[in-house]
Parts: sequence; structure tokens; C-alpha cells
Amino acid sequence: MRYFIDELHKHVGQKVELKGWVFNSRGSKKIKFLILRDGTGYCQCTFFKGECDETSFENFSEDISQETSVKVVGTVKEEPRAPGGYELSAESFEVISKSVDYPITPKEHGIDFLMNHRHLWLRSKKQHAVLRVRSEIVKAIRDFFDGRGFINTDAPIFTPSACEGTSNLFGTKYFDTEAYLSQSGQLYMEATAAAHGKVYCFGPTFRAEKSKTRRHLIEFWMVEPEVAFNDLYDNMDLAEQFVEYIVQRTIKNKAEELKVLERDLSKLEPIKGSFPRLHYEEAVEIIKKENPEFVDGDDFGGGDETIISSQFDKPVIVHHFPTAIKAFYFKEEPKDSKYSLSCDMLATEGYGEIIGGGQREESIDVLKTKIKEHDLKEEDFQWYLDLRRYGSFPHSGFGLGIERTVGWICGTSHVRETIPFPRLYGRNYP
Ligand code: 4AD
Ligand code: MG
Repeated sequence: MRYFIDELHKHVGQKVELKGWVFNSRGSKKIKFLILRDGTGYCQCTFFKGECDETSFENFSEDISQETSVKVVGTVKEEPRAPGGYELSAESFEVISKSVDYPITPKEHGIDFLMNHRHLWLRSKKQHAVLRVRSEIVKAIRDFFDGRGFINTDAPIFTPSACEGTSNLFGTKYFDTEAYLSQSGQLYMEATAAAHGKVYCFGPTFRAEKSKTRRHLIEFWMVEPEVAFNDLYDNMDLAEQFVEYIVQRTIKNKAEELKVLERDLSKLEPIKGSFPRLHYEEAVEIIKKENPEFVDGDDFGGGDETIISSQFDKPVIVHHFPTAIKAFYFKEEPKDSKYSLSCDMLATEGYGEIIGGGQREESIDVLKTKIKEHDLKEEDFQWYLDLRRYGSFPHSGFGLGIERTVGWICGTSHVRETIPFPRLYGRNYP
């Protein structure tokens, strides 16, 4: 019977069939070793001359170069020294399909080469570990919201208008009209929040960012909760509990993968309980000590975010960013309209902003003025204004970028390794 390597512990002493790819092989005249990789793990298969099928033994060295797909039959043995803790006392092996001159070898390769071979690079140990962590984070995100009674109401990808400003919109034809790829599902979540109370969407979002940084993708995944009658402070509480849940659950369930990635867990373990919160002006004071050029009122650059996060061992929430640098939908602070009811969460260790959100403007008149001030067309937002015409309600939400979160938890230096096939400025291949 065919089994996966991660189930071998249940079959000690039994004869099994494994199918996978050759990770490594070596041997002498009397004994040959093959490390098989099947996606769920690695298994050492040992062939003893005289104890295994003769042709398998003879063909061994000729046929099996790195990534050749093979079938191996043998008996499962407990072996604490073997990777994974089990090995196969092999009887026979069969080549399914050869792999000749596999381009990714154990030697060092440049990043351009690896990105051009991303479809193969995904098989490598660290890349494999990162995507397993991503899968766990995605599950944790859904469990967190589903377990708290949120309803998943996904937003459209073709949209008639901008959510996050017009500078990085991706335009496309929509039959005879123009459409934009969604920058954020938020505006639609404000509508579904009025239908269901607590909602979230989770999908790809697009921004034509003409910048090559380690934090920016052109296509990235975002989870966006929105809660009716939550204010800015409820929103920060939710964001804090959410991030604690994701981090702690990943540490618990993906310990093996984080070890492969050599992640320093002592940096993730403290991500619990309440996180420090700073008013924008308090954050500016911290920045100015190390970056005197910073202009009060400006948005933070990557370096400024690192200055702030390096002061704490937990993520930091910065709130009340200046109204002038924020999107049209933010509610202004009632006591001082210079500031908005916005909040960003900055990850630890300089990984930068992982969450952006806040409380939304609920007054139709203020919102109409804002739309005008931001050079947006009021007619595109009639449906959105309806939410303020028919039982307007205070509400808040946020968006968490998946790739930045995966990068932070895995400790990878660039978001391009946190998504199977990254879309970057200047790269749309493979
Ligand atoms: O701060 P942003 O732009 O917020 C919004 O889009 C809100 N409408 C969300 C909401 O309130 N529902 O983006 C949210 C997060 C950022 O904190 C970051 O993690 C991620 O999305 N993000 C990106 N990730 C990778 N590449 C990019 N180009 C990103 N732009 C934003
Ligand atoms: Mg932001």
C-alpha cells in the first residue's frame, strides 16, 4: 500500500510503498542509501546487497540523480538517528521518471536565478517550510474569526473605484467600461458588516507599487475584519488578540518548520497580552531621536518603523495618524480633526507594518466632503454613501497583510519567499 512519509510512525514493522523524489543518494558495493522526499517529509531508504531485489541494487547509482521520481518498497523501522525518526529497510525501487541536470543544486545560487526557477525552488527545504507555515497561518486566521462568530463575506476583485487612493491602482477593461483590481475589500466589508454584524474577507489584493522593497508585492493577500459598532479602541483590542493567536498557534503547530528556518523563537514567544500603544506624536518623538530629519506630519518610512519597533519586544500599535496622510474613509478624532481614528500595527524586529485600519467616518456630509477633497468621484460611491443614509453606524476594521506576517513569523528577509509565485515590480514570471 502507498503511504506518505508523515504517516510512517503508524506503520512500524509493516511493508509499505513510498512514492516521491530523490533528495540525495550515496552508496558502496554493499549498501546504498537513498533519501526520499515526498512533500510530507524525508525518509532514508537503505538497500543491503543480498537483502534487496538484485536489479534495484544494480540500477541504483545509474538511475537516480537529484529529483528523479521513484517508487520504493520496504519495511518501516524506527531509527532515532534518521531524519524524521523512521527509515525504510528497502526491498526494491523503481524509477518513475528521470530528472537530468536539476538546476538547483546544493551550491549557492543568486536570487535572480532562484526567482526564475521559483517553480522548482519551491521544493527546497526552506521554501517548503515557509509555505507550510503560511498554510498554518491561513488556517489560524480563519479559525480565529470563525471561532468568534464572524461571517466570511469575500469582496469582489473587479471594482469600479479606488479604496486606498488612485496612485497605485491597477486598471483593466471591464467590457465597455473601466475597472480596477481591488486594493482592499474594506468598503464592501462595511456593507456586509451591516448585514451580519461581524465579518471578514480574505483574498488577493493588488497595488501597482513601482518600488522594489523587501515588503512590497504587487499582488498580496489580505484578511480584513470589520465590526459594526466597534470604535478605534475595540479595533485595537481585536487586532492585538488576533496577532497573539496567530503567532502562538504557529509556534505550537509548526515547530519543525520554524526550526528548519532557524527562527529564534525567543523573539516570538513574548508576543502575548497587551501590546504597547503610541499616539502618532509619541511615535514621532521616538523617531526624531534617531532620525532628526523626520518631518512631523509625514508618514513613516521603513526605517522609521524599525526605529519604533526596536524599542519593544512586542508589536507596537501606533494610532491617530494625521488626517492629511490617510485615506478618505477614516473618521477624524472628534477632539482634534488634525488626527484620524486610524491605527497601524508594527511587527517586532523591524519587520514593519503588518496591520492598517481604524474607525470609519459615519457622517454622510463629512464623507461627501472627504470624497471631493481626495479627488474621487461621488457618483462611484453612491452605494457606499447609502450605508450612511440607511441607519448609519459607528464601525471599525483593519487589514492584515499575509505575506508580511508570514515573513515576520518565519524570519525571512523578503516577502518574495512567503507566497508561492510572487508578483513583484519587474517580475511576472514564472
Ligand atoms: O494599510 P493598508 O493599505 O490598509 C488597507 O488596505 C485598509 N483598507 C485595510 C482595512 O482597514 N480593511 O494595507 C493593510 C496591510 C498592510 O498593513 C500590509 O500588511 C499589507 O496590507 N500591505 C502589503 N503587503 C505586501 N505588499 C504590499 N504592496 C502591501 N500593501 C499593503
Ligand atoms: Mg497602511
